[in-house]
Amino acid sequence: MTFTFTSAALRSTALASAAAIGLAGGAVAQVEITYVSGAVGNAVANFAELVRPWEEATGNTVTLVPMPASTTDQFGQYRLWLAAQNGDIDLFQTDVIWAPQLANHFVDLTEAAADLIPQHFPSIIESQTVNGSLVALPIFTDAPALYYRADLLEKHGFDVPSTWEEMTVTAQAIQDAERAEGNSAIWGFIWQGNAYEGLTCNALEWVKSFGGGQIVEADGTISINNPEAAAAIELAASWVGTISPEGVLAYQEEEARGLWQTGNAVFMRNWPYAYGLGNGEDSAVRGLFGVAPLPTGGDNDSSAATLGGWNVAVSRYSANQEAAISLALYLSGPEAQKQRAINESNLPTIIALYDDPDIAEAQPIIPQWKDVFLQAVPRPSAPTLASYNQVSSMFWTAVHDVLSGNTTASASLELLEADLEDLKDGAWR
Ligand code: GLC
Repeated sequence: MTFTFTSAALRSTALASAAAIGLAGGAVAQVEITYVSGAVGNAVANFAELVRPWEEATGNTVTLVPMPASTTDQFGQYRLWLAAQNGDIDLFQTDVIWAPQLANHFVDLTEAAADLIPQHFPSIIESQTVNGSLVALPIFTDAPALYYRADLLEKHGFDVPSTWEEMTVTAQAIQDAERAEGNSAIWGFIWQGNAYEGLTCNALEWVKSFGGGQIVEADGTISINNPEAAAAIELAASWVGTISPEGVLAYQEEEARGLWQTGNAVFMRNWPYAYGLGNGEDSAVRGLFGVAPLPTGGDNDSSAATLGGWNVAVSRYSANQEAAISLALYLSGPEAQKQRAINESNLPTIIALYDDPDIAEAQPIIPQWKDVFLQAVPRPSAPTLASYNQVSSMFWTAVHDVLSGNTTASASLELLEADLEDLKDGAWR
């Protein structure tokens, strides 16, 4: 396994593969597979170990091309490569929301994965199926948690909050008390407020948990301009500069986790990958925190976790499709998913792994999170089809404007509704 960053290296990879096939002259050809992926946490560091059993079993090798952590940046780059029918990349690691937008560029894996499909949660397979083609195989699913500092809640006499309003009060009270004791770096709540896909996830959770819908509903109706959604976003705006640092408006997952692991936050919204790392040897919060479902809000009594997750797709332009499909099946299968669960606290998409004692022991969040992800709220990527990225970017921009203090939530959502109606232009396509 090697790492590379440059397109020159990509070209030489392809040449090396071609040379290997040529030299083998029809005998067993060993190929070098190029896998492109963004990553957070320790995913890049673990990748070599993850693919080693497949490399040993097949004699092929895998080169990882790491991308920026932001799913929005990855999407932009992948779309360019795929539109150019770039054959240098065999496998793409794809976000759960991308299937309808990128489907035409990927190989249908229905037949190749026939034995594996029944082992996965049907809803996740469904999310990667576009017009009857299974365009990507799930490698892990995602649903965020409210991370809380159990030691600080106990010290200051607070319970784990079950509403956003309680969270706001508790975060402020503990932040004030800790600062009064000289802990000047402490913040109440950290989350992902940068203008990117992660803000769509955070804001969908606020809005949905306040009873304000899902931006665009499953039937394609634009629902975002409503008082519950506005109240949710106004509450979030009140956090900026009070219980959350101003810098939260530029935070993605890793910035939040970095601050959390220094011990300077009472609450954090993040995905399960931050659980194992938070309990790592280099973490100041090791053993000090717990996880709970995200709070509810307003008069509503059900919380909402955005459904995330990652998949692997085989490029139609790959010259090594057979080996690429074999690697995709391996990464989506039980052995690799178990390793990922234990080493990266990623939630498996294989049903049986939720009863695996090794996983439960290494990462107790995983069996606890089965129901959370099964009830998680999808972003409107299915109803908005190829327009999803624009819908999401209009939404995160509208929310970011409110969080930055440039406008009110009701004014911003009214404009957003009009822009979304224009984009929809009668029907999503
Ligand atoms: C996580 C989720 C992914 C989401 C991203 C947003 O990686 O798994 O679905 O789009 O966060 O930042």
